[in-house]
Amino acid sequence: MKIIIKGGRIIDPSQEMDTVGNVLIENGVIKGFPSDIRGLEKEPGVRVIDATGKVVSPGFVDLHVHLREPGFEHKETIRTGCEAAAAGGFTSVVCMPNTNPVNDNASVTEYILLKARTQGMVNVFPVGAITKGQRGEILAEIGEMWEAGCVAVSDDGRPVMNSRVMRHAMEYVKAFGIPVISHAEDINLSANGVMNEGFYSTVLGLRGIPNASEEVMVARDITLAELTGAHLHIAHVSTRGSVRLIRDAKERGIRVTAEATPHHFTLTDKAVLDYDTNAKVNPPLRSEEDVEAIKEGLRDGTIDVIATDHAPHSEDEKKVEFDLAPFGISGLETALPLSLKLVKDGVLTLPELIKKLTLNPARIIGIQKGTLRVGSAADVVVFDTDRVVKVDRYRFRSKGKNTPFHGWELSGCVIYTIVGGKIVYSHNVCCF
Ligand code: DOR
Repeated sequence: MKIIIKGGRIIDPSQEMDTVGNVLIENGVIKGFPSDIRGLEKEPGVRVIDATGKVVSPGFVDLHVHLREPGFEHKETIRTGCEAAAAGGFTSVVCMPNTNPVNDNASVTEYILLKARTQGMVNVFPVGAITKGQRGEILAEIGEMWEAGCVAVSDDGRPVMNSRVMRHAMEYVKAFGIPVISHAEDINLSANGVMNEGFYSTVLGLRGIPNASEEVMVARDITLAELTGAHLHIAHVSTRGSVRLIRDAKERGIRVTAEATPHHFTLTDKAVLDYDTNAKVNPPLRSEEDVEAIKEGLRDGTIDVIATDHAPHSEDEKKVEFDLAPFGISGLETALPLSLKLVKDGVLTLPELIKKLTLNPARIIGIQKGTLRVGSAADVVVFDTDRVVKVDRYRFRSKGKNTPFHGWELSGCVIYTIVGGKIVYSHNVCCF
């Protein structure tokens, strides 16, 4: 089976490639970039995709997704989460362990991978829990989970409050060469807060979560990474203080990487003004100064990766008082257009943006993805940077319709998503 993607702007940061040309896919792998395709096009059974005026890049790699299976299939399943990923241009997703049961041992990891192989349509890479049951007390079976296929460990959704446990986790993972992903939050400082602590929380009469809740834990985990030499990855950075701490740590040569989500660089806590539970997320949407600092962090390389923290919840769960609603935004299907805004606003060039969606996340977890190198699996996305789309949450592939971007008009639309040489998504009428 051959696919020719012709005439697109091919951007592949792994090869510093930015050129108009053709991509040939054969038997599921990238075969080459032939300049003359006249003969090939006429071969029987060849699928030709005209990408004129479109961008062709490695499929996106999302370092932070909640697929919810096992245990919370009413929110999302591996199947629906993968469909949402494909619609968003993601060909690989890294799924967090806060399922039920928690992914804290090899049997749960194997279950996720089996489901992903049989029902998933994109590559799924599980993250194992740091501690048993994500209770923050006893280290999980990290070695066994690594053997079973986990690419990182994290208690995401919850912090590891005990610094000694976190230190041991960092010391332990070094043997496997995988990162510890930190959900940086001091729950005592968060004190059951439900939104950012600031002007709007006062106006709304809602309990606030201060920036310091994140920053003290970013500082602690950087200190522990320095002590242990482990690779620390900071999830969903939301505050200017965190950006400063990570920038400083990088300058000092500490092994720290970081991600930011589209909602944290797009929205402020003002989005909560009408008590919209779709804007309730952890860490919370912050202030204008924080948003600007995240953009600056993306621009200067302090923040390596854009990850969605795709956190689907059911309608029923979100349709309650703000205080009671679960934290989370369904992010896979709006990530590309929201991220392209960074290019429009001059924060990043298009190749820089693509690098934060492909090569950088793949490198952090050490997978051979995020590249169009000849011989690599043909995980490719074709997208249109200019096509204007209106976000319609009811058309999401994800079961999670919980987005604060419903009704927004955005530029950027995925046209094709290809995984291992197979077209798993093609845009027909409208993206959303
Ligand atoms: O908003 C969030 N939702 N933040 C997290 O850390 C966890 C996630 C979830 O699992 O719903």
